[in-house]
Amino acid sequence: MKRIAFFDTKPYDRTWFDALNTKYEIDYFEIKLNERTAVLTKGFDGVIAFVNDEINEKAINTLVENGVKVIAMRCAGYNNVDIKAADKKITIVRVPAYSPHAVAEHTMALLLTLNRKIHKAYLRTRDFNFSLVGLMGFDLYGKTVGVIGTGKIGRAFIDICKGFGMKVLAYDPYPADIPDVKYVSLDTLLSESDIISLHCPLTEETRHILDEEAFSKIKKGAVVINTSRGELIDSHALLNALNNETLFGAALDVYEEESEFFFEDYSNTIIKDDILSLLLSRPNTIITSHQGFFTKEAMKSIAETTLKNLDDFFEGRPLKNEVCFRCPNN
Ligand code: NAI
Repeated sequence: MKRIAFFDTKPYDRTWFDALNTKYEIDYFEIKLNERTAVLTKGFDGVIAFVNDEINEKAINTLVENGVKVIAMRCAGYNNVDIKAADKKITIVRVPAYSPHAVAEHTMALLLTLNRKIHKAYLRTRDFNFSLVGLMGFDLYGKTVGVIGTGKIGRAFIDICKGFGMKVLAYDPYPADIPDVKYVSLDTLLSESDIISLHCPLTEETRHILDEEAFSKIKKGAVVINTSRGELIDSHALLNALNNETLFGAALDVYEEESEFFFEDYSNTIIKDDILSLLLSRPNTIITSHQGFFTKEAMKSIAETTLKNLDDFFEGRPLKNEVCFRCPNN
């Protein structure tokens, strides 16, 4: 039986993998995979990793020395894997889509919560405070949403927005033919959108796509939502835009420095990240800890595809979900 090391395990990860796995001996490690922990993989044939594992060149070299043949990412993004360092040494597979709807629905949940201040209303009414002061939002109907990245999740979010009667602008270097969506330049999207939502991958080009300059072009009073990757936004620039009241607010499911904190309980600790603390202290900012994907349908689909990717690799079939330095679809 092939041995698989599963990193950054939480109790909810095991539910579907334990239910669906029949072929592999899986050891579940709570620790994240990085250049220090890669030594744990001696004797394993493959690893299953996640969004905040740090699979850099040193980690890859250790995996290869230990005899690991395949890195199966149980997520869509792979910006945390040095695919150049892995080239011709180790195979990488991923789950390109599990439920775009899960992330798109969470994006709308964040927008509705931020706009209608549901998070504040929930706390108020539990304290028998039925005042409406400070809870005013705005109609989404008729507003313009600017979607950056119109792939699977961006399109699912566009469909939801259309259901709300919103106008849709989009920016994507590879435009698709989507009814009632107008592709515009990034500058036009920034200056004309009431809501800006990020749905592009993290790449060299998109890192800090919302930086100080971009925030200076954003329409006053706009909402910024990021459910993609934290590094798409320069957090200092976001904080400045919130401080000088450029924005109505920001809703984030991801954060630049999230790998140190997200998915863990630090409620009894002083967090040593001033930007995160300041963002959390702003009344018009809400942060969820990378939970966009977190529905039972998505978790089941992640386990199914990850196990199928491993089957294809170990049984020598073509790898439709491979990512690599030279792959034409990367
Ligand atoms: P996708 O690959 O289907 O779509 C990405 C789109 O971004 C493509 O249309 C591509 O052309 C576009 N794009 C590439 N470079 C761009 C640029 N410079 N500017 C604007 N658009 C650009 O990916 P999918 O499935 O829609 O996922 C999008 C992102 O969502 C992932 O890369 C990942 O970072 C994030 N994600 C977040 C999750 C969460 O739990 N919060 C879960 C899953 C994905």
